[in-house]
Amino acid sequence: MKRISVLSVFILIVVLIACRKDVFIGEYETTPYQLRIPQGFPQMVIPVNNPMTVEGVELGRKLFYEELLSADNTQSCASCHLQSNAFADPRRVSVGITGAEGTRNAMALINLGWEQFFFWDGRSATLEDQIFEPIRNPVEMNDTWPNVERKLRASEEYRDLFHKAFGTPGIDSVRTVKAIAQFLRTLISGNSKFDKVARGQASFTPSEANGFDLFMRDKDDNNGISGGDCFHCHGPILMAKQLLANNGLDTIFIDPGKAGVTFNPSDVGKFKTTTLRNIELTGPYMHDGRFATLEEVINHYSSGVKVSPTIDPLMKFAADGGVGLTPQEKIDMKNFLLTLTDWDFINDPAFSDPDL
Ligand code: HEC
Ligand code: HEC
Repeated sequence: MKRISVLSVFILIVVLIACRKDVFIGEYETTPYQLRIPQGFPQMVIPVNNPMTVEGVELGRKLFYEELLSADNTQSCASCHLQSNAFADPRRVSVGITGAEGTRNAMALINLGWEQFFFWDGRSATLEDQIFEPIRNPVEMNDTWPNVERKLRASEEYRDLFHKAFGTPGIDSVRTVKAIAQFLRTLISGNSKFDKVARGQASFTPSEANGFDLFMRDKDDNNGISGGDCFHCHGPILMAKQLLANNGLDTIFIDPGKAGVTFNPSDVGKFKTTTLRNIELTGPYMHDGRFATLEEVINHYSSGVKVSPTIDPLMKFAADGGVGLTPQEKIDMKNFLLTLTDWDFINDPAFSDPDL
């Protein structure tokens, strides 16, 4: 009798262990990741085939800082996307592993979960798609996906991390990209002075307030009202508007922008209207990094706008060279733009290199 009960306890224990999936079936339970969406922001739509998990975000963060992702193991995503610069590159154009210079300035990585297309010319429709590119781009990490997969599979640490992030074992390009995309969706910036003012927790100085008014106001020459007309293309709350537009940088475009993707002449010179959040930290500015300072950017919109056949109709004063701000208005505009800096974002330990 005693023997039977000992045996049945033993069997019970075996059954219980077998039910813990990770031990026998080789599956891990993943933990859903709770995104913290700032007050006033829209909900973020997460692709159904890449749900956010704590383990996935952790793996993505490690991969973002992983130099094995480049051909000579010297370059990671973070080589061109620096947290201290709101994940932009302080160099005018990016430099790849071979020392080759690209032609475009690396974009800031901020609030990407709300973006609907990626790159200066809008050529990628999803974040997952976008991440396939830098690894095989010859002027970036210059590797091949089979090679990257081979390097990651050789690491016991990565075999374990991928297993935990996706429940089942296996390392491939799709999973690598999914994990990085999960991490990128956590890069949320919503605690700048501008946000605190919107939440009633801080107030603008008179100069910042005037800059904000100018930013949000249509210039109206008939009634003698000055304005910057900026909000049309960079409006709140995200300070980005999901547009590709020609903002009058050139008469003839060396980089055709969107037309390089669509081959449609009506798209020449159209580039992504990036977010202005953390703009103080993401210079140099524009797709080719042509402007080193915010003063230069403001001067462009004030009096440097160039007319070409595809100039955006919202650049209403292009024929006059721009919206013609006074010296004081330029200072106020800059002071407003500086309120978009979110120091918590660039110092958030959850976004830094996990191995440092
Ligand atoms: C050699 C520098 C370099 C490296 C390394 C690099 N990038 Fe970039 N990144 C750029 C440049 C330049 C652009 C703009 C390219 C363009 O528009 O054609 C860009 C654009 C992006 C964008 C588009 C942002 C937007 O708002 O549309 C994302 C997202 C991004 N990179 C993520 C990554 C990830 C993830 C990695 C690592 C797998 C990575 N980058 C590695 C230079 C780099
Ligand atoms: C017609 C739409 C439009 C209007 C209006 C507009 N912009 Fe832009 N803005 C853009 C586009 C498009 C880009 C990117 C252009 C490029 O890189 O070729 C841009 C880029 C910028 C950048 C640089 C972003 C970066 O990451 O490098 C700043 C700063 C900026 N705009 C500020 C302003 C301000 C301030 C105003 C108002 C005075 C304004 N914009 C009005 C479309 C617009």
